[in-house]
Amino acid sequence: MTSLADPSGDAKPSLRERWFAYRNQKLADPKFQRWAASFPLTRPIASQRAKALFDLSAGFVYSQVLFACVKLSLFEALADGPLAVDALASRLDLPAPAMARLLGAAAGLKLVEKIPDGRYGLGVHGAAYLGNPAIKAMVEHHALLYRDLEDPVALLRDGKRETALSSFWPYAQADNPGTIPAEAVAPYSELMASSQALIADDVLDAYPFIDHGTLMDVGGGDGAFLLAAARRRPDLSLILFDLPAVAESADQNFKASRLANRASVIGGDFTTEALPKGADLISLVRVLHDHDDATAALLLRKVFDALVPGGILLLAEPFADTPQAESVGAYFQFYLLAMRQGRPRSERELMTLLYGAGFGRVRPVATARPMLASLLVAQKSAGPANRSVKSS
Ligand SMILES: C[S@@+](CC[C@H](N)C(=O)[O-])C[C@H]1O[C@@H](n2cnc3c(N)ncnc32)[C@H](O)[C@@H]1O
Repeated sequence: MTSLADPSGDAKPSLRERWFAYRNQKLADPKFQRWAASFPLTRPIASQRAKALFDLSAGFVYSQVLFACVKLSLFEALADGPLAVDALASRLDLPAPAMARLLGAAAGLKLVEKIPDGRYGLGVHGAAYLGNPAIKAMVEHHALLYRDLEDPVALLRDGKRETALSSFWPYAQADNPGTIPAEAVAPYSELMASSQALIADDVLDAYPFIDHGTLMDVGGGDGAFLLAAARRRPDLSLILFDLPAVAESADQNFKASRLANRASVIGGDFTTEALPKGADLISLVRVLHDHDDATAALLLRKVFDALVPGGILLLAEPFADTPQAESVGAYFQFYLLAMRQGRPRSERELMTLLYGAGFGRVRPVATARPMLASLLVAQKSAGPANRSVKSS
């Protein structure tokens, strides 16, 4: 087999490459597959792998079963206890055989569960769904993503192809994001707010910022992260920076939560404007991965300039290479492809970007659910600044 490291194929393959070649030749061999499936010691591994490959091939169907359940509000209908197929059919306005089919499919995915008397109740995933409103919002907006992914190769080939998802996220590809109107930011801000509670808990648990006086959340959406931080630290001053239309809705939320006295909200476009100075803690939560490398580097330099000396940046988002959550990285590769902007980055890539922006003492801090967000903490040196943004 040709060496992976040397395209000319002249170099001697390493032990690892030879192992890859041997393993893959075996795995691709139908005779070996049959043997592995029947030999007692390899049978569990073989069936696990076969199931994983089937799940990869069938994943879209599973998503559509979930989508149908969400669209029909099936889990809400079962919230008070199990129901018979006919009762569910009339409640959700489906013909009984179609209801039975959906329930059968949903039971196979542990979304619902059939009890011995033939009625259906919530399955383990259906019950967990009810406790997490973010999943409903996520599933519903996936209709756009799946439309865009109908021809993934065309999407990969054509970087300028119009996509439905980029209209959902209007700042991706916008010539002037600062002028996006309120009605265009509302759907994505609602989606973000619905999932922010879990992420805020994880980030605030991981970095209990007792020593800080002012927290600025850049790209802070409608304020959910800052509201969660404010609940934990009643003496903390808050600054939110986001596009003007989003900032307007955050402002209303702070007023409704009686936090207007310690929160300032600034609307602007961080690709063209400087960030307000003075915070000793800045957060970027699910913001950087939305942007291509040049904008990401520019934003980090602006954050660096805005921080007081010795200040801290919290960078929280799903990383591309999180152990045990690699599939989340795969999801964001294609999600952001359809969004037409940004990419998930590995911890190492993010650390390089942070050091490049002038930060020091960059360290990962473990979060409870890295599939939602991993965390890097970076510090601006307390000494004289050694660089600043030249153009903003
Ligand atoms: C994916 S959302 C994350 C929102 C929030 N941090 C969260 O985790 O829920 C990205 C946020 O960045 C904001 N944003 C995008 N481009 C921006 C820009 N050029 N200037 C200011 N804010 C921007 C969006 O309006 C949005 O609120």
